[in-house]
Amino acid sequence: MKRKPTTDSKKQKNSDCASESASLRKCLTRATVRKFQEKICQHYRIHGRELPWRMTHDPYHILVSEIMLQQTQVQRVMGKYEQFIRAFPDFSSLAKASLRRVLREWQGLGYNRRAIALKQIAQKVMEEFHGKLPTSVEMLRTFPGIGEATAASISAFAFHKPAVFIETNIRRVFIHSFFPGRTNIRDTEILPLVQQTLDTSHPREWYYALMDYGVMLKQKEVNPNRRSAHYQKQSPFQGSNRQVRGMILRACTSESYLSEQEIAKKLQISQEKLKNNLVQLEKEGFIKRKRERITLAF
Ligand code: ADE
Repeated sequence: MKRKPTTDSKKQKNSDCASESASLRKCLTRATVRKFQEKICQHYRIHGRELPWRMTHDPYHILVSEIMLQQTQVQRVMGKYEQFIRAFPDFSSLAKASLRRVLREWQGLGYNRRAIALKQIAQKVMEEFHGKLPTSVEMLRTFPGIGEATAASISAFAFHKPAVFIETNIRRVFIHSFFPGRTNIRDTEILPLVQQTLDTSHPREWYYALMDYGVMLKQKEVNPNRRSAHYQKQSPFQGSNRQVRGMILRACTSESYLSEQEIAKKLQISQEKLKNNLVQLEKEGFIKRKRERITLAF
């Protein structure tokens, strides 16, 4: 579905801006807001992406996609999202599944702590919320693995709430559009603009449109996010300790007990690299040792 978000700009009041000093906070005119919204919507009408998690209104499906998309690129998530939903179609099945099985289905996405958090969320939803995900940002924030931005994105995508948030593509759009020539731009400067330009009647489609415009900008020019105060270039996955930890967990999910030597041989890595990553995995509660052997901790 590619519905054009309506602007509704006449009704929009700039009361937030009136109460704050203009030097502290950028305030946009109605004309600027309308022009910006038209630019974003026009791009979306032609180039909007039809991603599987945009075709559903099921809060569980949307939650799974938002947790997966936190630190993993769309292309990689595309390959995993439907498989994960097939394995665990609802909160109940995920809550009941063994962590070992959940981790197996998560393999390939990295940042495995998210898989644990997702299962804990499912348990909490079943035990404390009668199987229904809460709709408000405040309640969603109380769940493991859900920070401010994810709570707001779930609230907008699953429940059509006009919650305000920034993620990497959205940040890129605002820096490109409203901070020409500036560097060291903080998210606290961007957030009021996200709020002022938000299509409160269609937050879900509006945020899709913003994200897709941000993807286009990344392909077209030097990444505007380099001018963000929060910019961190993602280090390559290939050869990283993160990749090694994923490989260790994969080895441990397929066999019950392995020695350090067996793992080192399977993974073709040095003892030293293995030892450091085993320490980390043990600290994070993923693995445990029984005598000289290593196994999953759950
Ligand atoms: N659609 C919904 N959520 C998204 C996200 N986090 N990234 C890209 N597209 C999305």
